[in-house]
Amino acid sequence: MSVSRRSLLAAGLGTGLLANLEVPVPALETADSFDPTRLTKADIPTPALLVDLDAFESNVQSMAEHCRKSGRGFRPHAKTHKCPEIAKRQMAAGALGICSATVREAEALVAAGITGVLLTSPIVEPAKIARMVSLIQQGKGVMLSVGHLREVELLAEAASAAGVDVDLLVDVDIGDRRTGILPGQPALELAQFIAKHKRLRVRGVQSYAGHASHVIGFEAREKTSREAMGKSVETRELLNKAGFDAAILSGGSTGTYNIDSTIQGVTELQVGSYVFMDIDYRRIGGKTSGENYSDFQHSLTVLATVVNATHPDRVSVDAGTKALDTTTNWKPEAKGWTGLTYNRGGDEFGIMTLEPGAKLPRIGDRIEFIVPHCDPNVNLYDRIYATRGDKVEAIWSIAACRS
Ligand SMILES: Cc1ncc(COP(=O)(O)O)c(C=O)c1O
Repeated sequence: MSVSRRSLLAAGLGTGLLANLEVPVPALETADSFDPTRLTKADIPTPALLVDLDAFESNVQSMAEHCRKSGRGFRPHAKTHKCPEIAKRQMAAGALGICSATVREAEALVAAGITGVLLTSPIVEPAKIARMVSLIQQGKGVMLSVGHLREVELLAEAASAAGVDVDLLVDVDIGDRRTGILPGQPALELAQFIAKHKRLRVRGVQSYAGHASHVIGFEAREKTSREAMGKSVETRELLNKAGFDAAILSGGSTGTYNIDSTIQGVTELQVGSYVFMDIDYRRIGGKTSGENYSDFQHSLTVLATVVNATHPDRVSVDAGTKALDTTTNWKPEAKGWTGLTYNRGGDEFGIMTLEPGAKLPRIGDRIEFIVPHCDPNVNLYDRIYATRGDKVEAIWSIAACRS
């Protein structure tokens, strides 16, 4: 059985930190004395997603500080966390707004009072266009990025039917060949096409260099990112020379934040993974930290329990592919354990095997895993336990999970 937030409110439990919880609460957590701040990690039902608040807050502050010192804005990407409570903390640290990859993320952010939401993905379904237009009508500074004539036509139609003005960034494809229009003349022509529609306004350009963010080694990454972002800078200048007021150039990533923030013409960073960090990012190497990229700390973990210890050479944990994203080449790492390797054991289980001489966990032991890739891992959960040391401080809804 689970109870809704409404029944918790009726029981007088919906105040303070618990007010952040918008998801049904499993029966285990609904005892009379339920209060998330009374929980410790040992009470959390597994598998569970955890954020270590000390590491998370340090990441949030250190990116904000970097942007402030570099004279750049930042509009962090919610595709990483899908969580309004995290977005609020990024805004409190000085973000201009928050990026979203899906309409649902944008809706969850606006519903939580976040201003300056930018949808960075293309949408061509009329129903999604209508949902974005209705968000814009709420007057919270929502923008979209567009990289194709068809999107512009659909938006123009919906905007004029609703009588609402829509702010757009021209999405420029600077090398990863996924979304956007080609830089230079094609981008200018798209901007001119936008300008033909009374209700649409060009505010600048957006570029994401996905092919640069995870390049191993700082120098190689810097070369790739400068080359890519240079195309976007030139395109923005072209638009401005043609009479547009292209005030914004939004782009960048956690891997290139300290490169893109030195490029003249880049006005804001769309960094995402820095709040959590993952194994995929750790291996890219830092500017000064050698092979390990240590600018940000691992704050995200999956907590699991050892549920089988029948064999002398292995134990099973209750975190399989439904709990740990294993689609990258890297394996989840057991925090604080040496000589233990995670192996896929199906939907529900992971199998921990041992290097010679290593100590096998016992049945009932808890293991926290650093995740290979944060974004798809978060997407598997509807809540995140915010912990400090061993204590739970809050439970935050991943309001836009799986959408
Ligand atoms: C459009 C866009 N902007 C920014 C980002 C943020 O990248 P990261 O999580 O590497 O900081 C992404 C990530 O995929 C993205 O797709």
